[in-house]
Amino acid sequence: MLNVDLSPISSFVTPETLAAMEPRVRAAHETLTSGTGAGNDYTGWRYLPRDYDKEEFARIQKAAKKIQSDSKVLVVIGIGGSYLGARAVVELLRSPNYNLKKKDTPDILFAGNTLSTDAILETIELIGGRDFSINIISKSGTTTEPAVAFRIFKDLIEKKYGKEEARRRIYATTDKAKGALKGLADAEGYETFVVPDDVGGRYSVLTAVGLLPIAVTGIDIEALMGGAAEAMEAFSVLSMDNPVWKYAAARNALYEQGKRVEILACYEPSFRFMCEWWKQLYGESEGKDGKGLFPASTEFTADLHSMGQFIQEGERIMFETVVRFDKPKGTVTIGEDPDNVDGLNFLAGKDLSFVSEQAIRGTRLAHVDGGVPNILVEVPEVSERWLGQLIYFFELACGVSGYLLGVNPFNQPGVEAYKKNMFALLGKPGYEDMKQALEARL
Ligand code: PA5
Repeated sequence: MLNVDLSPISSFVTPETLAAMEPRVRAAHETLTSGTGAGNDYTGWRYLPRDYDKEEFARIQKAAKKIQSDSKVLVVIGIGGSYLGARAVVELLRSPNYNLKKKDTPDILFAGNTLSTDAILETIELIGGRDFSINIISKSGTTTEPAVAFRIFKDLIEKKYGKEEARRRIYATTDKAKGALKGLADAEGYETFVVPDDVGGRYSVLTAVGLLPIAVTGIDIEALMGGAAEAMEAFSVLSMDNPVWKYAAARNALYEQGKRVEILACYEPSFRFMCEWWKQLYGESEGKDGKGLFPASTEFTADLHSMGQFIQEGERIMFETVVRFDKPKGTVTIGEDPDNVDGLNFLAGKDLSFVSEQAIRGTRLAHVDGGVPNILVEVPEVSERWLGQLIYFFELACGVSGYLLGVNPFNQPGVEAYKKNMFALLGKPGYEDMKQALEARL
């Protein structure tokens, strides 16, 4: 089981303070498991690792094999919860350089997560003349960014292959019954996968939303689900020894003491999109009703040379949660240099992981000394199994933490504001009055 080490926050939050939170954490966890809390109709992710649709899972694996056999590129179109999870898992388990590495699985190009003309043009350029397929992912089917991108790539694929073959290369992941994308997919005859009704976007990585693109890259999605299932079992324990309880209690205790920013940090560059996924998970779940920790992220040691100054000596509003993987994939030994001009011979014969370890230890002490508490999440290694555990850990802790904070962790009313303004300004039918009012203000 992954471990949460709270010893580096003990000078900020005493063990007694944490122990005193036990009844509140218990109540929050029980609210979640009993399904009696706000937003309870969006908690289907809790039992997904055990109760997922096995028939659909087999179809995902079959579709992934087909895409691997007939495509050099898979264009994955989606935004927010319909994008970040897949990218996070692929980058961590495969590589941020996945497309550059020699391999026998298709490149993955993510689209529909921006309205940038340049980005779309570059994606088209990167596909070039290669065979490709499309996975359009949108629960609502009406989100502007992916819908616009899908129009463009649908046109491209139909021009390349003709309508008949194109429809065999388009996979739609959307609501099981409603929405514009579901209607289009049925009309055109695309293979469809389901975003379950009771799973919100940011909790959907372990549904077809994440699993199809992830499987196309050759990642073992059974092992990923297996890890999540282990976590579901292990983290159901109602006890302050439960890592989920420790994390939820610690971050809320720090918030109550006045901390306003939580920085998720990792020493693996491949963790960058896990941070992006985590930021959406916690930001959308807790940032409401004038409350919540602002989720930020850093990539160490690179950011120690940029954000390190602020973390060490700036406004004392933050704490860090450091995710640490114990075992690297291999070893790199530092060599001996007879000239020793760089003065590094004292490290000769040492493994690079030893150097990294001292950076982690030294940074933790420096930041704690600077008034930045550190929560440590220890994960044995980067693998499907342990990532499955980590994903479930963060999801469950987010639900518990949101109820502790006193918000509905499963809605996102604030996301609508910009969408409405954009629709009005674009001249969408039904928004005429709003358009006039907005234009007058601009
Ligand atoms: O968490 C959320 O609900 C959002 O981030 C959505 O996932 C995002 O807006 C995409 O929505 P949809 O899948 O409906 O296109």
